Amino acid sequence: MSLRLPLLVLTGAGISAESGVPTFRGVDGLWRNYRAEELATPEAFAADPKLVWEWYDWRRREIAKCTPNAAHRSIVEIESHVADEDPDSFLLVTQNVDGLHELAGSERMERIHGSIWEVQCIKCGWSGVDRSAPLKRLPPTCRSCKGTLRPGVVWFGESLNAGTLRRSVDAAEGAGTVLVVGTSSLVYPAAALPETALRRGAHVVEFNIEDTPLTPFVHESVRGPAAEALPQWWARQVK
Ligand code: OAD
Repeated sequence: MSLRLPLLVLTGAGISAESGVPTFRGVDGLWRNYRAEELATPEAFAADPKLVWEWYDWRRREIAKCTPNAAHRSIVEIESHVADEDPDSFLLVTQNVDGLHELAGSERMERIHGSIWEVQCIKCGWSGVDRSAPLKRLPPTCRSCKGTLRPGVVWFGESLNAGTLRRSVDAAEGAGTVLVVGTSSLVYPAAALPETALRRGAHVVEFNIEDTPLTPFVHESVRGPAAEALPQWWARQVK
């Protein structure tokens, strides 16, 4: 295998597009004419928790119908292939909150924006997984203190989990190769990971159906739907 290790894979909503999960900035990106930036914020939740939960409940119901596609499965195959050589030489960092990477079998991963299946109580701090779709009531309430629950995702203006970010930045700084799959490369700090790796001399491959702000700087730009492009690219690596 010609891949320079360690390998970092960064994914965005585009990798789940062929599973039927709506992306954020594509043609299917709006919900009742709201953009994600208007709903995925602490201010929007404080102003109208029911509206924000209606959006998440809609996304949870949409995602519950979806299954991992060939691109998710390719990343699992790449993980096991690389980890066979050196278990510490692979990390998947996903911006996605849909849980499809976990469903496909990915293990060595960081969910840099959290999970749509996790909920947190804004009163007592309890957090857990709730996979009910649809949710029984909106907004959902905490079983122990009756406080309002929020989605376990990172909102605009919120800081990321420090440990998750540290491990992701460490992987970018030490990467030999980075695969950037299905992200518009617009949202930081996730979008800074490939930039950091490039500065450190990593080989960066972008998989997308169109150009992004990262495209001019990558070593390989693979055009096409990830569910086809990524398995085909991987097949060429292991030939
Ligand atoms: P976007 O919706 O911004 O971008 C999706 C990217 O996937 C675009 O570059 C598309 O061209 C590409 N794409 C679409 N279909 C594809 C396919 N079949 N194969 C390959 N690429 C495809 O989603 P993200 O980049 O993930 O943050 O957005 C980043 C963050 O913005 C999200 O994590 C979320 C959002 O607000 C938070 O919620 C904090």
